[in-house]
Amino acid sequence: MLRWSLADVPWDTFDPAKVDPDILRIVKAASMVEINADDYVRYLERVFAQDAELLGAIAHWGEEEAQHGNALAAWAKLADPDFDFAAARAAFAAGFQIDTEVDRSIRGSRTGELVARCIVETGTSSFYSALAEAAEEPVLRFICRKIAADELRHYKLFYDGAKQYQKAEGISAWARFKVALARIVESEDDELAYAYYAANAVTVPYERKRWTREYAARAYAIYKRPHIDRGIAMVLKAVGLNPTGWLHRALSGAAWAFMQRRMRVLGRERAAA
Ligand SMILES: [Fe+2]
Ligand SMILES: [Fe+2]
Repeated sequence: MLRWSLADVPWDTFDPAKVDPDILRIVKAASMVEINADDYVRYLERVFAQDAELLGAIAHWGEEEAQHGNALAAWAKLADPDFDFAAARAAFAAGFQIDTEVDRSIRGSRTGELVARCIVETGTSSFYSALAEAAEEPVLRFICRKIAADELRHYKLFYDGAKQYQKAEGISAWARFKVALARIVESEDDELAYAYYAANAVTVPYERKRWTREYAARAYAIYKRPHIDRGIAMVLKAVGLNPTGWLHRALSGAAWAFMQRRMRVLGRERAAA
């Protein structure tokens, strides 16, 4: 049983005058990534094949992620009746796929896998919290608040799982930190850039650098410092480090400075392109 459904969304309050075209583009991209959770469900079912309890939670998680995709796509369709979700989804699937035929986690351990999932949920909960605040369109704000709350619960699910597996596997803090860092760096891999491309511009050839830039310039723009502070605290907690001490202050400051610098560079690159 899902906590909310598309029927709970106050669609009749939709205000087309408040749709921001840059936000509409990143919402279309987000709908692609969310609906793609099917592949991650298949992958996780193989990694945790022996864990019946977690498999049940993973199936439920997958349904919630798919609902996120459907809600965002329905909003995007309302904002842009020409948006062809099915065609965009097919273009995304044709150009981006993860390997689901695995025997074990690509993170080296099940604990590592769950830590990596915590990083993804940190990213999504920060993204939808930021989007709920940045958007002015009331229906999108409603949807983003519902999704952000789900993403926070997903983080908790994987965090609790990581703690349990940690007891059995005894993965070092350094190894967990490396997994987290690797997953953060991967956020500029093809998945988001290709989702953005497939949802917005499939008539021209894909170029990773260009579409990473187009996506990132719009996505980074929605964040404020508190979203970064909270995200860094969640990352530190996921790897078993103090989420409130000096390390948190240092990393939050560094992450915020990095994002600001990245925004300036992206702005210059877009102006030159
Ligand atoms: Fe989601
Ligand atoms: Fe999630």
